[in-house]
Amino acid sequence: MTDTFDEDVLNGLVGKVIGDVAGAMSMFMAYLGDQAGVFSALDGAGRVTVDELAAKIGLNPKYLHEWLGSICAAGYAQHHAEDETFSITPEQALVFTREGQPACMQGFFQLIVSQFAGHEQATETFKSGKGRPWGDHPQCLFCGTDRFFRPGYQANLVDNWIPALAGVEAKLQTGAKVADIGCGHGSSTVLMAQAYPNSTIHGIDMHAPSIEEAKTKAAAAGVTNVEFQVGKAQDFAGGGFDFACMFDALHDMGDPVGAARHIRETLAPGGTFMLVEPMAGDSMAENMHPLGQIFYAASCTICTPNSLSQEVGLGLGAQAGEKRLAEVCREAGFTKIRRAAETPTNMVLEVTS
Ligand SMILES: C[S@@+](CC[C@H](N)C(=O)[O-])C[C@H]1O[C@@H](n2cnc3c(N)ncnc32)[C@H](O)[C@@H]1O
Repeated sequence: MTDTFDEDVLNGLVGKVIGDVAGAMSMFMAYLGDQAGVFSALDGAGRVTVDELAAKIGLNPKYLHEWLGSICAAGYAQHHAEDETFSITPEQALVFTREGQPACMQGFFQLIVSQFAGHEQATETFKSGKGRPWGDHPQCLFCGTDRFFRPGYQANLVDNWIPALAGVEAKLQTGAKVADIGCGHGSSTVLMAQAYPNSTIHGIDMHAPSIEEAKTKAAAAGVTNVEFQVGKAQDFAGGGFDFACMFDALHDMGDPVGAARHIRETLAPGGTFMLVEPMAGDSMAENMHPLGQIFYAASCTICTPNSLSQEVGLGLGAQAGEKRLAEVCREAGFTKIRRAAETPTNMVLEVTS
């Protein structure tokens, strides 16, 4: 059979794919540069030669030469051909090396590298249709997730999201009992503990190594008004919470309705549930953009397999959208769901009875 095709369309598609492959390699190179400390060595160093940079960080100049070639071709660092030196601009420093800045993308890279590192399991899961628990992924997924999300929480949680909820900030300032469910490495838990010293923040996650890491982070931050628990969202211990929150985790759960129901049952009268989920439209057609491309991919290999590995296995997906999330909350017995805040990557729902 001979297919007829449009040569211009084909060339356009091939060109796009080459750009995507270049992007994938650049992301990988940027990750290497992060892990080996090259970007931080370039930050503030001015123009340096390969040998100067190699000596500064103790790397093989042969490898560094090739790395710089790729990174500069990508536009992630500057190559000065007139004297064969290299540097980074203030903007490149923000994106590639300033840990904790909202523009820093290294957590993003680490998260994606974890998916390539686990490609055999990802392929097996995709082919078999079986579940794959969160804990089955390479360690760099957990660190990358925390690194990726933390700056957004730092920028928004205390200053924008909590104040956007009716009456919650005052309760937290006075002293409230808070549950942070699916807390992962506990960055959100620690942020709230620091901002509201009269409140006690309970970080809950079913992944025991993440809870260990969260305890370490809380101790390093010197906060004592935290308690951590290895537990499932649908049956964790405790109750009487004035405020419950969940950050980028509901869609990962096998039984999001059961989780939301348990949260409702453990809230004190008048309590609020703040649900933070990835930004998405209500239909696939609304999510045909780079963010949708990224979120659907993460959902394909991380979120949906995790959900399918648990009881019920609803597989909500990371692009469920507000309408579907509100249905889940209503099924769980909540009656009022309102979008209280949003960022380009997250929607923040205020969920009450
Ligand atoms: C994408 S991570 C988000 C972690 C953290 N909230 C953050 O924003 O960095 C999802 C988290 O949900 C947890 N999780 C998934 N299903 C769970 C369940 N049924 N009960 C409790 N935790 C769950 C995972 O272990 C993981 O730590």
